[in-house]
Amino acid sequence: MYRARITGTGSYLPKKILTNYDLEKIMETSHDWIAQRTGIHQRHIAAEGEHTSHMAIAASERALEKAGLSPNDIDFIICATTTPDLTFPATAVHIQKGLGIKKAFAFDVQAVCSGFVYALATGNNFIRTGEGTRGLIIGAEKMSSILDWTDRSTSILFGDGAGAVVIERTEESEQGILSTHLHSDGTLCDILKTDGGAATSDHVGKVRMDGRAVFKHAVLKLSEAMEEALSKNKMTSADVDWFVPHQANERIIDAIATRLNFPEEKIIKTVKKHANTSAASIPMALDWAVKEKKIKKGDVVLIDALGAGLSWGSSLIKW
Ligand code: ACO
Repeated sequence: MYRARITGTGSYLPKKILTNYDLEKIMETSHDWIAQRTGIHQRHIAAEGEHTSHMAIAASERALEKAGLSPNDIDFIICATTTPDLTFPATAVHIQKGLGIKKAFAFDVQAVCSGFVYALATGNNFIRTGEGTRGLIIGAEKMSSILDWTDRSTSILFGDGAGAVVIERTEESEQGILSTHLHSDGTLCDILKTDGGAATSDHVGKVRMDGRAVFKHAVLKLSEAMEEALSKNKMTSADVDWFVPHQANERIIDAIATRLNFPEEKIIKTVKKHANTSAASIPMALDWAVKEKKIKKGDVVLIDALGAGLSWGSSLIKW
């Protein structure tokens, strides 16, 4: 078996910023309520005509540049998204076209907020089994297109953006993606969902959520998935340099960090400025942490995410 390592990261945020104060003008809410309940202060919103693939292409170009690769070095493209440009074909093939990649195969992964962890696990397995040597793993979302802006309990939570990583085969046994852990529980499919879809209605639907139930499951299931990753690699939280959680809600992140004994200085948080960008949140946070010179070669990084499904997972990475 080979091993995959992350060799480049990139991200893209749309220009338009929507602050909590802007939301106060269009719904009955307040900056203080949103900030205290979620840690979110602002989110980026895609422009008219700016689609998921456009943001993904921009993030991917940056990740390729950081990896020192050209588009045609890539063997496969996996895009995690719940807001594809079209029902079909996959957003990944729009990205392939945009980047001018000839030989790769490309497809989407739909695991909502945990999509990036699912896509990374899938790409990791292609490399481990020798079915490819270099891949683009992308999380990209235009969540603003599936929000009900009259529902203050959901619309305040999300934002748009894209993040990408390049993964490559490595010969070094000590470096790379050490393990991935995926889970889902379909009995919880109703607590977070859209109220429409291609086969059930004439619209794709808007986000509907039982926030309290999601919160409770998120803390429990993510803590378990992280413990699973640590135990698989015979590590404790003390061995981890950086905890990079899905950026849904600062209170969820803090509750998990307390359970697992992660000090504040080891946690990467971008939720304040990015809000919840679903599948894009972890690759955007990774790129931010690399740019800020926090994550460096040799660091042990633990990622985790939970989203609708419910689906959740974690991965331990030696950078
Ligand atoms: N502004 C002001 N008041 C609001 C708002 C708002 N935007 N939204 C709800 N309220 C009100 C409610 O109407 C309610 O009022 P009432 O007491 O008069 O009935 C009150 O605030 C409390 O509402 P709750 O829903 O109980 O508030 P809670 O403390 O649970 O916070 C929140 C809500 C922030 C959604 C929380 O449940 C949460 O973060 N859940 C996790 C959901 C999540 O992160 N989902 C993202 C996708 S899944 C994932 O990525 C992990």
